Amino acid sequence: MSDNTEPTVEAGKTVKEEPAEKPPVVKKTAEKAATPEKTATAEKPTATEKSATTEKVAAGEKPAAAAKAPAAKAPVAAKPAAAAKTATAGVESKTTKDPFVSRRRIIWASIVGFMSAISLMFVRFFLPRTLFEPSPIFRIGYPGDFSIGVDTKFQNQYRIWVVRNAERLFVIYARCTHLGCTPDWKQGENKFKCPCHGSGYDSEGVNFEGPAPRPLDRANVKLDAEGQIVVDTSVLYSWPKGSKSNFDEPGAFVKV
Ligand code: FES
Repeated sequence: MSDNTEPTVEAGKTVKEEPAEKPPVVKKTAEKAATPEKTATAEKPTATEKSATTEKVAAGEKPAAAAKAPAAKAPVAAKPAAAAKTATAGVESKTTKDPFVSRRRIIWASIVGFMSAISLMFVRFFLPRTLFEPSPIFRIGYPGDFSIGVDTKFQNQYRIWVVRNAERLFVIYARCTHLGCTPDWKQGENKFKCPCHGSGYDSEGVNFEGPAPRPLDRANVKLDAEGQIVVDTSVLYSWPKGSKSNFDEPGAFVKV
């Protein structure tokens, strides 16, 4: 009969206390254990779930929400790339607009220009400082090419006039004996007239007016083996004022 009697008060207490305290502990552990499993299953569906999903899809059913989760995360993964692009674009725009960069370019351009100028001056130092003038010795043709009078066709090229009279052919150097200007041949007045100070010379270059101190100089002339007239303006014949004329010396004319 003692087995059918109700439990004592102490035994009842122990029975009531155990269900009240232990269940929360069990729930917590169950929740902790269930949380990683759920996330794991949500992120990585197992082979059985995949097969089940494919079967459902084949049967026309919509896939589970767990299968949709990876697809929904794709745009989230694309956001860092877009953010990286905007960041690089910002860096580039900062680089191009950086005042220090443009200032550095100006400084380098100045340095390069200065060094180039120095290099050119260094090379120029070793080059000869000569004037490339035409040779003072040249041919002007045959005596028969010139008629009596003044021929001015070589004035611009060689700065000479070719004068021929009944006995001689000579070449006048077209430089005023006053200060070196180039006179003009005045066909109507039959004279050379200097435009600088008005000196005048007759048709053979003998001064007769103006400040010119002496007649126009004459260049060396001779005939070569072929009979052409060779002129050398580096050798001149003059008639200094109050002195004897050099116009009759050999080389001052050719006989015609
Ligand atoms: S230079 Fe010819 S007159 Fe003075």
